[in-house]
Amino acid sequence: PAQPRERLRVAIQKSGRLGEPARELLASCGLTWRESRDKLFLYGESLPVDLLLVRDDDIPGLIADGVCDVGIVGRNVLVEHGLEREAQGRPADLTEWRQLGWGTCRLDVAIDDAEEWTGPQQLEGLRIATSYPRTLGRWLQEHSVDAEPVVLNGSVEIAPRLGQADVVCDLVSTGGTLRANQLKPVTTILHSEAVIAGPSATLDDGRQEIADLLMRRLDGALQLKE
Ligand code: PRP
Ligand code: ZN
Ligand code: MG
Repeated sequence: PAQPRERLRVAIQKSGRLGEPARELLASCGLTWRESRDKLFLYGESLPVDLLLVRDDDIPGLIADGVCDVGIVGRNVLVEHGLEREAQGRPADLTEWRQLGWGTCRLDVAIDDAEEWTGPQQLEGLRIATSYPRTLGRWLQEHSVDAEPVVLNGSVEIAPRLGQADVVCDLVSTGGTLRANQLKPVTTILHSEAVIAGPSATLDDGRQEIADLLMRRLDGALQLKE
């Protein structure tokens, strides 16, 4: 169990697409930080809200372990975490506290752009490269397709050319990466956007109060943006 804390710790992406907008959103809530030398931990000055800059994929685990209290992360990462817990027979621990409306992307199945798409059954027996095996697995099960996920943490789109997989299931934003790899999206498995992820249960010590204050400010900031 984590030490009792009177400060809220927010995990955001260190680099990548969600990191900078996440930091801007928190700054628009009136938060300021004193930067540490390594710039991976930012100490909150205006409010007791510290930032931890990490890999997005690590955010659900950090919250689940009580290292961080909330995070700004793509739904895709949160859903995969939840399904992984479920597969281990453990109850859901995290929920979406807010939907942020940016960082939108799709988790799509993509095939060779010269191939024709006839439907999910076409994937039967194929190897599918993905970083989201649980989310893909659920969709395959829903469509009664028996395929083999090949788990890769990056450069998923190159797997078919390398002979590691037949097709891919990866995030698509502009579609540029798929096109560059002669692949085309054929079906969507999950619609994603940036969300505030937090525990399903109430935080203990003084952190819930800080979290409530932050969420009120956040709702104000999100409304101003509309
Ligand atoms: C994401 C995703 C795709 C790419 C899609 O990767 O995994 O590879 O972006 O974007 P596009 O449709 O605009 O080309 P990202 O660059 O975030 O790196 P990562 O896969 O290492 O997380
Ligand atoms: Zn990532
Ligand atoms: Mg990628």
